Amino acid sequence: MMLKPVSFSLAMAGAVGGLIVTAACSRESSSAPMNTPTTPPMTAAAPANPTEHDVHSFAIPAEARVTHVALDLHADFTAKRLTGKATLDLERAPDAKKAVFDTQDLDIRGVSDDAGHALPFTLGNGDRILGRALTVALTSNTRRIAIDYATSPDAAALQWLDPEQTAGKRHPYLFSQGEAILTRSWIPTQDSPGIRQTYDAHIVVPDGLHAVMSAEQLTPDGIAVPGGRRFDFRLTQPIPPYLIAIAIGDIAFRSIGPRTGVYTEPAVLDSAAYEFGDLERMVQAAESLGGPYRWGRYDVIVLPPSFPFGGMENPRLTFATPTVLAGDRSLTSLVAHELAHSWSGNLVTNATWNDFWLNEGFTVYFERRIMEALYGQERAAMLEVIGRQDLLDEIKRLSAMPGDTRLHLDLAGRDPDAGTTNIAYEKGAAFLRVIEAAVGRDRFDQYLRGYFDRHAFTSLTTEDFLADLRANLIKDDHALEERLRINDWVYQPGLPDNAVKPSSTLLARVDAQLDSFARGTPALRLETKGWVTQQWQHFLMNLPESLTVAQMEDLDRAFGFSRQGNSEVLFIWLRLAVRHHYQPAMPALERFLTSQGRRKFLKPLYEDLMATDWGKPEAKRLYQRARPLYHAVSRMTLDEIVK
Ligand code: BES
Ligand code: ZN
Repeated sequence: MMLKPVSFSLAMAGAVGGLIVTAACSRESSSAPMNTPTTPPMTAAAPANPTEHDVHSFAIPAEARVTHVALDLHADFTAKRLTGKATLDLERAPDAKKAVFDTQDLDIRGVSDDAGHALPFTLGNGDRILGRALTVALTSNTRRIAIDYATSPDAAALQWLDPEQTAGKRHPYLFSQGEAILTRSWIPTQDSPGIRQTYDAHIVVPDGLHAVMSAEQLTPDGIAVPGGRRFDFRLTQPIPPYLIAIAIGDIAFRSIGPRTGVYTEPAVLDSAAYEFGDLERMVQAAESLGGPYRWGRYDVIVLPPSFPFGGMENPRLTFATPTVLAGDRSLTSLVAHELAHSWSGNLVTNATWNDFWLNEGFTVYFERRIMEALYGQERAAMLEVIGRQDLLDEIKRLSAMPGDTRLHLDLAGRDPDAGTTNIAYEKGAAFLRVIEAAVGRDRFDQYLRGYFDRHAFTSLTTEDFLADLRANLIKDDHALEERLRINDWVYQPGLPDNAVKPSSTLLARVDAQLDSFARGTPALRLETKGWVTQQWQHFLMNLPESLTVAQMEDLDRAFGFSRQGNSEVLFIWLRLAVRHHYQPAMPALERFLTSQGRRKFLKPLYEDLMATDWGKPEAKRLYQRARPLYHAVSRMTLDEIVK
């Protein structure tokens, strides 16, 4: 099987050896691509969705709502602060006396109107989850306000990396993560996915660094200004504020296709450009499903290894973990996923976090259709089978909270992060598969295409979607309505039994070898020649519940799992190693937990460790070492687990 070096590193002082970044180190020009003209947005600023109140924002959009954000910020890497001004355009009721914004850990230094006159403001009591409401008094004609502010060094959205935490080791780095409600920790605005905003930005960074954002670049190489270089950006399509994003560092660019390319540190550029070689074809496949790509360019930035997610669908510029760089393009469904969000999520957005499945369920369905178009039905089928197993595991894990296995959630009083389980992703995608199977692919494709067009640049609730489905697909077909069992899927827990059962020929072959292994065949005698990554994942996910140390050794000797460079395969192997207290894999575990900060990998491993007597002190020791290197998103989750 394929063995590739783990090509990423959190750069821990004293980390176990072997964390060497594959430094191909061909220095590219850091200049960014020329801007291809952007398709003009369909609407200037779509109206906020009035049908459901967002319990995770203080904003009162019926009174005054933000339509545009203009940022003027300076990145201070010594103080670890962004400092400057956010100017907000408002659409307001004529008699509105105030406008309310979301903030978290922001130092608000002053608020003024267009003419520079100070406006009175108050900051509400801090809420642990939501932060503080910033309430600004409006005069009868205030349409634009400017907020002078600075972010906190601990801003939850921002991670400031020391040079040692980057691939190049010479320059510091900053990146943001807005979803779900973290944008308020770096921009004072109305941080609700139902309140769409356009934005522009002037960002001043120290000399030698390069800024990118989820927007059109107006100054690809920056402009010299006192104290550094200024980079200007503009996004003319209205987006939910969780999609405003920035990265600053020693960032280089390489073009892949006419409107696609990859950004990353120079040392990672070769491997990133290879991994995403099919990017342009992916966009074409996505367009044939969702309609024209409406955002101009599609680029991917590969971030330093502490990025807490696999990927984040920031418009025009997907943010991605370096753990996707397997060396053989085997994990690129992640990019298909983030690209798919350019339709499901970014073009048509969940109106509140209770409707999160509208973003992720649609996107997983869409992702697999892209993978099918590029690599064939079998590749998509494998992903679907693996996804189904993840879903069943998740339903089991949530058995004490069955309400969380509904598609439509009730997250009042909770962090919306609690809703980001596999339910939204896999139950959501499974529901769309049921509809597809019931009406046939042609009709469903036509419906989907219409759905994106009808609701482009708006935010929808679950109810809005169901109304659209009934109006445009089900119509008066009562038999179809009954067959779908919409109510069970959306409002009831668990997996309805009309779910389409996925199957894959390549994974069935793995099942045969699993049977053989369970009957005592030594690992080396198994027929694994030519297996691809998803087959290895399936193999490891379906080994007998309990294995002897001899069996673990047998597997490791035959297949070298502990030396595995594919992050997804290594992750499952390490979970097995922890569950069976398989000592020889412990150095690999330590290396994995200290060399990348992806929450999806960290959380289960720490949980598994904490569930055993021997593992608990290990988890604490490792976490104490690694915690300072993880992003706040991962820290918040892990602090709860490793107490
Ligand atoms: N939008 C999500 C990431 C996210 C979700 C961030 C909720 C914050 C809150 C992104 O599209 C995503 O789903 N990423 C996955 C990878 C994907 C291939 C399933 C991830 O990060 O693991
Ligand atoms: Zn997603």
